[in-house]
Amino acid sequence: MEALKGVRILDMSHVQAGPTCSQLLAWLGADVIKFENPQGDATRGQLRDVPNADSLYFTMLNCNKRSITVNMKTDEGKQVFVDLLKKCHIVMENFGPGVLDRFGFPWEKIRSINPKIVMGSIKGFGSSGPYADFKAYENVAQAMGGAMSTTGVPEGPPFVTGAQIGDTGTGLHLAIGLLAALRQADRTGKGQYVEVAMMDGVMNLCRVKFRDHQRLTRQNLSEYSVPTHQGMGAVPRAGNDSGGGQLGNAIHCKPHGPNDWLYVVVQEAVWEDLAKLIGGEALANDPRFEKISERRKNQNEMWRLITKFAEKYTKREFMAILNPIDVPCGPIMGTDDLANDEHVRGRDMWVELDHPQRGKWWNVGMPIKLSDSPAVIRRSPTLGEHTDEILKEVLGYEQEKIAKLRNAGAFSVPPKKAA
Ligand SMILES: CC(C)(COP(=O)(O)OP(=O)(O)OC[C@H]1O[C@@H](n2cnc3c(N)ncnc32)[C@H](O)[C@@H]1OP(=O)(O)O)[C@@H](O)C(=O)NCCC(=O)NCCS
Repeated sequence: MEALKGVRILDMSHVQAGPTCSQLLAWLGADVIKFENPQGDATRGQLRDVPNADSLYFTMLNCNKRSITVNMKTDEGKQVFVDLLKKCHIVMENFGPGVLDRFGFPWEKIRSINPKIVMGSIKGFGSSGPYADFKAYENVAQAMGGAMSTTGVPEGPPFVTGAQIGDTGTGLHLAIGLLAALRQADRTGKGQYVEVAMMDGVMNLCRVKFRDHQRLTRQNLSEYSVPTHQGMGAVPRAGNDSGGGQLGNAIHCKPHGPNDWLYVVVQEAVWEDLAKLIGGEALANDPRFEKISERRKNQNEMWRLITKFAEKYTKREFMAILNPIDVPCGPIMGTDDLANDEHVRGRDMWVELDHPQRGKWWNVGMPIKLSDSPAVIRRSPTLGEHTDEILKEVLGYEQEKIAKLRNAGAFSVPPKKAA
């Protein structure tokens, strides 16, 4: 049985940050009703790879949901929204600032309609403070939350990271908040407003950089491979440094293509064996590397020696040499490596699905594994696929009422007026 069976979510979210949260909750067993603008979530048509089919951008973030289209700019559409609010445990959105207010449904109004409902809201910068009125996308959040200034190399520009920490990262934070608030609502009968700002979520994920920021007021950062000094202010970009107490870096391997790298952590416990492997007893006893404090000072030379040794091996061969002596390491995996990886397939992390418009496609699977409630992944809905089903089954509307609402434009975009 699914963990969240019986939990119904009215999901007004769009693009990535909200849908990634509601897809996760759907995979945990919630009944997620994707409440769409009649034009559909904009991502349905973005970056299309198959003509007239929902894009992978949409399908990969909206599995296991049902779709209803409702025009919130009509009185009839608003009435359907109110009726759905009464039947749901959670309502969630990630509109730009002020959109819900313009619909006439600020949180206080929603709570007066269903006092037990939990409301989830994602904004770029939250509902308070000088940035509250700004819209945001992934890289804006990465820029403002500290990720970009700390990613890259000191002499190069700041870089975004490919992991969607601004959007998907925020969605994950929201899922935690919603589940906590739901538990409280079950106990007290009272819902609450759960807000996650993308900028806050990115700062949370950059926590160790703020550790280093404060250390810089007292000392240099001895584990960094780039120069640092007490009082330098902002934490510098440090390439592929490990970011933790152990030294780490990416080592280029044969045949030296873009992804022919192995990430190697020179853990304190393994240095002696690693040194013997790459430079014999002489290196193991070399005073420049004997103690971790010395290795930190001379780490660029240490990386050079490891890289020299790795020259004759591929990343997989080098990994196979390092694994028996317990050196923590991992090959840099391309998306092509991962899509074909036996381990990934075996853990249901690359899942084949079918879709009426696009045929076979693949989704990244559910990363949270529950022993008694494994996720069963089903395709994303087409636009408005479940409108009638939801109106009948969830709201108990009769066919006649549905037809009347439809004629009044509750589920469609208004026709353009003749010029
Ligand atoms: C992502 C974002 C920048 C997109 O901006 P946008 O495309 O202008 O979309 P907005 O959310 O601001 O506005 C949506 C519009 O659709 C309309 N709309 C949405 N659902 C509707 C419905 N069911 N019926 C009628 N209209 C609807 C809204 O009324 C609004 O129009 P308005 O400005 O005339 O009121 C913005 O939504 C945002 O900043 N969201 C919060 C941060 C976030 O989640 N960002 C990451 C996205 S991955």
